[in-house]
Amino acid sequence: MNCIIRPLTLEDEPFLWEMLYQALYVPKGCAALPREIVRLPELARYVKSWGREGDFGFLASDAIADQSIGAIWLRLLIGENQGYGYVDDNTPELSIAVLPQYRGQGVGTQLLTHLLASEGGRSSISLSVSANNPAVRLYERFGFAIVSQSDESLTMKRH
Ligand SMILES: CC(C)(COP(=O)(O)OP(=O)(O)OC[C@H]1O[C@@H](n2cnc3c(N)ncnc32)[C@H](O)[C@@H]1OP(=O)(O)O)[C@@H](O)C(=O)NCCC(=O)NCCS
Repeated sequence: MNCIIRPLTLEDEPFLWEMLYQALYVPKGCAALPREIVRLPELARYVKSWGREGDFGFLASDAIADQSIGAIWLRLLIGENQGYGYVDDNTPELSIAVLPQYRGQGVGTQLLTHLLASEGGRSSISLSVSANNPAVRLYERFGFAIVSQSDESLTMKRH
């Protein structure tokens, strides 16, 4: 997949809302989730007021179609704002999504490669993922390991 990857900016917040929606795992055969779901506080905290200190990530675009197709981002979610993948107050949480028609073509791998090559200063990263989401394999390939499990979701961490 011929894609261009660049750092996220403040202007990318609308696309991050779309990516947050796309990152929600829907098992095969299940109905699509309503789009307003990302406005629930427990989800909105991943994107709301993008550009806070420590916010960091990359956007992938299709070089030929000139369209944004995926994003990866880190945000420190602590205190009342703790996310699903909280492990400690120094570990930001990773979110990633690629538009459905572009999945399985290496875009997610390129986004993770960029982020991990330029994460400067961050000694650890965590994430939350459904236990039956195929993305678990992708995260394991990049050195994430399961640190806890609850119901059907896993918390993974990379040092
Ligand atoms: C997870 C995701 C970002 C990976 O990006 P991608 O461009 O599809 O990934 P790549 O092509 O670089 O790598 C392939 C790996 O991605 C994962 N993957 C591929 N298609 C996927 C899909 N439809 N859903 C979830 N994971 C998928 C698998 O781990 C796959 O590895 P495998 O071939 O060993 O099974 C992307 O598939 C996606 O947006 N999925 C839906 C949302 C999601 O699950 N986000 C993660 C929430 S924690």
